[in-house]
Amino acid sequence: MSHAPSVDESTYNMQVVRQFAVMTVVWGIIGMSLGVLIAAQLAWPVLNFDTPWFSFGRLRPLHTNAVIFAFGGSALMATSLYVVQRTCQTGLFMPNLAKFVFWGWQAVIVSAVITLPMGYTSTKEYAELEWPIDILIAIVWLSYAAVFFGTIVKRKTSHIYVANWFYGAFIITIALLHIVNSMAVPVSMFKSYSMYSGAMDAMIQWWYGHNAVGFFLTAGFLGMMYYFVPIQAGRPVYSYRLSIVHFWALISIYMWAGAHHLHYSALPDWTQSLGMAFSLILIAPSWGGMLNGVLTLSGAWDKLRSDPIIRFLIVSLSFYAMATFEGPMMSIKTVNALSHNTDWTIGHVHSGALGWVAMISIGAIYVLIPRLFERQAMYSTSLINVHFWLATIGTVFYIVSMWISGITQGLMWRAVNSDGTLTYSFIESVVASMPMYVGRFIGGAIFLTGMFVMAYNVYMTIKREQPRDLPAA
Ligand code: HEM
Ligand code: HEM
Repeated sequence: MSHAPSVDESTYNMQVVRQFAVMTVVWGIIGMSLGVLIAAQLAWPVLNFDTPWFSFGRLRPLHTNAVIFAFGGSALMATSLYVVQRTCQTGLFMPNLAKFVFWGWQAVIVSAVITLPMGYTSTKEYAELEWPIDILIAIVWLSYAAVFFGTIVKRKTSHIYVANWFYGAFIITIALLHIVNSMAVPVSMFKSYSMYSGAMDAMIQWWYGHNAVGFFLTAGFLGMMYYFVPIQAGRPVYSYRLSIVHFWALISIYMWAGAHHLHYSALPDWTQSLGMAFSLILIAPSWGGMLNGVLTLSGAWDKLRSDPIIRFLIVSLSFYAMATFEGPMMSIKTVNALSHNTDWTIGHVHSGALGWVAMISIGAIYVLIPRLFERQAMYSTSLINVHFWLATIGTVFYIVSMWISGITQGLMWRAVNSDGTLTYSFIESVVASMPMYVGRFIGGAIFLTGMFVMAYNVYMTIKREQPRDLPAA
């Protein structure tokens, strides 16, 4: 990798990276606490307290916005702005604009925290925020793009390391998705109507939704993988050639798969089948990339035993493999006929969200914190180990509960008596799911406990006075 330690450390602008890294932990705790709260509301509805602003319907989008955009977004911005500087051996382009990106992004999230519980929503999933906030998002995002690509332009190296390709694709695609999907006609300060209608609106929304998964929750984190797995393993990436094939295959296939969210809907049948076909093809680049990450550890497998950070990174890739096998299976129309609208989808989401997105971010932040705050290592390796087990056990608890409740729901909904009437009423399937909702709550609470352990470890690392003695990353 092209980041020789010969570059003077003062070249780099690490302030904004430090801020985003710390906020990753803070927003992780807030977003996951909301997750645990809404999981508890599903198990014990009395926790809605009969108030609209504390109800499941309003807190659910707050959870998704907080974990995806606040927690995931901060992790992506921290790591991308770190990696682009190190691999290009130059400081950030327009550091003051980078400061604006940090504060602008926090302002977006705080606006979400205020407006969503108040009931302001565009109702588009993962794009619920109303038009004034959408405009702010577009401005902040384009500024982020300017800082990132400006840094690449002024690089001191001849080539552009593959992690930056993935981060770059993520930044460009999210700008495109956000701007197109958020096109709306405002009717008041906090109410707007989408420019699209009917099946067209649905298609645009799920082109957005699926590519938000593909580029926000996947491509950016693959950028993270391509930098942090080799750094922590102390080995070059397994195959540079495979990484290039991986990049082009992934970005060209993802764009076509969104229609699998709209099976058996008003969308033309051929579009649904096209979405299914591309989803199945998507296994190849997903697994190719995952193997490139895992095999980077070849010859250093023993590190899995001794280094809990490597364990976070490699286990996240195993969950990624699982989610990207499960997703294509769920996109097969006959399987989707069973899984759609059930908790199976929620299980799939969280094997990606907790197992892949959260675990790789956590691993990367553990690598970053000592480097950013000039400490020799994290305060406690055993606490990282404790965190690893809490995260793994929490994720498994969550997704197994959802598989059981999801498949139970799917089977109960389609069961018919010999006279053609339904065997079960809907409420019977809800009652059958209840024990699994408690199981999911327990899994989430275990995962969240790990985040508190991380916060303590990060706090102690930063607080502890100790000179840096690390090789430059
Ligand atoms: C402690 C950890 C977490 C818990 C307990 C939790 C819990 C929940 C619950 C209860 C729901 C609503 C499910 C429903 O409507 O039936 C949900 C939805 C969702 N969560 Fe989480 N969550 C956690 C972490 C995360 C993380 C880290 C992410 C992303 C990085 C995430 C992404 C999502 C998404 C995208 C949805 C919407 C799924 C859909 O509409 O199909 N969650 N979560
Ligand atoms: C090859 C890769 C993947 C494919 C083909 C795929 C496919 C699918 C399918 C078929 C659904 C269910 C749609 C429905 O019935 O409504 C789904 C839902 C979902 N998947 Fe994936 N998936 C993949 C990877 C991932 C990963 C890695 C993540 C997260 C990091 C993820 C996050 C989600 C989310 C958030 C939803 C719920 C969307 C919603 O209804 O709100 N997927 N996916």
